[in-house]
Amino acid sequence: MNFYQFPTDFWWGSASSAAQSEGASQRDGKAKSIWDHWFEQSPSRFFDEVGPEDTSTFYDHFQSDIKLMKQLGHNSFRTSISWSRLIPDGTGAVNPKAVSFYRNMIAELKKAEIEPFICLFHFDMPLAMQQKGGWENREVVDAYVQYAKTCFELFGQDVHLWFTFNEPIVPVEQGYLYDAHYPNVVDFRRAVQVAYHTMLAHAQAVACYRDSGLDGQIGIILNLTPSYPRSEHPADQKAARMADLLFNRSFLDPAVLGVYPKELAQLMADYSVAPHRQDGDGAILQAGKVDVLGVNYYQPRRVKARLNAINPDGPMMPEWFFDAYEMPGRKMNRHRGWEIYEKGIYDILINLKDNYGNIPCYVSENGMGVEGEDRFIQDGVVQDDYRIDFVREHLIWVHRAIQEGANCLGYHLWTFIDCWSWANAYKNRYGFIALDLKTQQRTIKKSGQWIAKVASEHGFEG
Ligand code: BG6
Repeated sequence: MNFYQFPTDFWWGSASSAAQSEGASQRDGKAKSIWDHWFEQSPSRFFDEVGPEDTSTFYDHFQSDIKLMKQLGHNSFRTSISWSRLIPDGTGAVNPKAVSFYRNMIAELKKAEIEPFICLFHFDMPLAMQQKGGWENREVVDAYVQYAKTCFELFGQDVHLWFTFNEPIVPVEQGYLYDAHYPNVVDFRRAVQVAYHTMLAHAQAVACYRDSGLDGQIGIILNLTPSYPRSEHPADQKAARMADLLFNRSFLDPAVLGVYPKELAQLMADYSVAPHRQDGDGAILQAGKVDVLGVNYYQPRRVKARLNAINPDGPMMPEWFFDAYEMPGRKMNRHRGWEIYEKGIYDILINLKDNYGNIPCYVSENGMGVEGEDRFIQDGVVQDDYRIDFVREHLIWVHRAIQEGANCLGYHLWTFIDCWSWANAYKNRYGFIALDLKTQQRTIKKSGQWIAKVASEHGFEG
């Protein structure tokens, strides 16, 4: 039996986001985000037609929820600010009720000695901004930077770790390539523009934070999905490099190195999908290099060389450059349809150590969504041993990466309490704490009891 000892100042906690936990989605001056709007328009696109109003209502329950975080041994918690709550029109007047809510929430966390990690954008574009073209419009970039500045001014004294975006690739791929999120566009060139403007917004927010004179740190949260080739055949290897370029390095390189990979720029030029740029953009990206990185990891991507020729009449897709590979015998979370490959987190951390200057980072999301967790209730508690195994196995790899010199400072589970999840609503439950949506009752799961012990002992036996 080994004891996996983590540093005593390791960040233990969980992550959530405004739209997925706050509720009060159209109360106290909050305007609609694209999620409120899309749900009103197309409820059938959401599992069981449950929309973003049906959450654990953190907006009303944050005080008691923070007490529960304490019970789970959290010393840190990540959530986001809702832009459409703070500045309902996207630009202009600040909503005083939102200021009070976020101030009170942050103060409550500090009182409990739980460090707030605050993200500025977690998929929830204000509708008013989307109606102006969303990230395709450079004016929206300016509006976001102003919003970021407002957040730093209002809350910067108490928040020492900021993140500009959570998984910026998700609105790009789900909203502009795969028709899975609003605005349901399928257009590679527009997707590239959205991705580019998002990184410009990010970089300007970073610069703005540095100009503010505040003494905290700022970063970005990326879902890094290691790409593994089917074989050592050069064509399979190339497929993996392309997937890595398109899905990881397209955000990781500008965020950490301040510059896009040359191969990516060349590829975009070759296919005539390069984004519109302006003079001076290169310097903006250089100035936006992060202090710290959040790493979200759920699953790897396995690929092989494409077998069939591209259909030139079909829409351009990342999959023009590789085929998905279903590796025989892979371990699956069948509920979510995602492969479980614990070593992936180690590979990411070692890649950051070896190729990205060993940037300080922490695991900002990792977790297991499971359907029908009621089946596992015994004595009133969800016996989620599968989640404990999942977290333990990932932490063993994180531990090993740290031993080998990776600069990983913490681990946050997705998520604190079962939450509303974009188009999947409550199909899969992820929390350390079970939520009864009807009664709003919260019950700590077995994994919540387990993590409390791990956090208090700075490690575990395994
Ligand atoms: C991450 C997001 O991609 O994965 C979360 O940051 C999300 O917002 C989580 O909820 C789990 O994915 P899903 O689609 O099962 O909710």
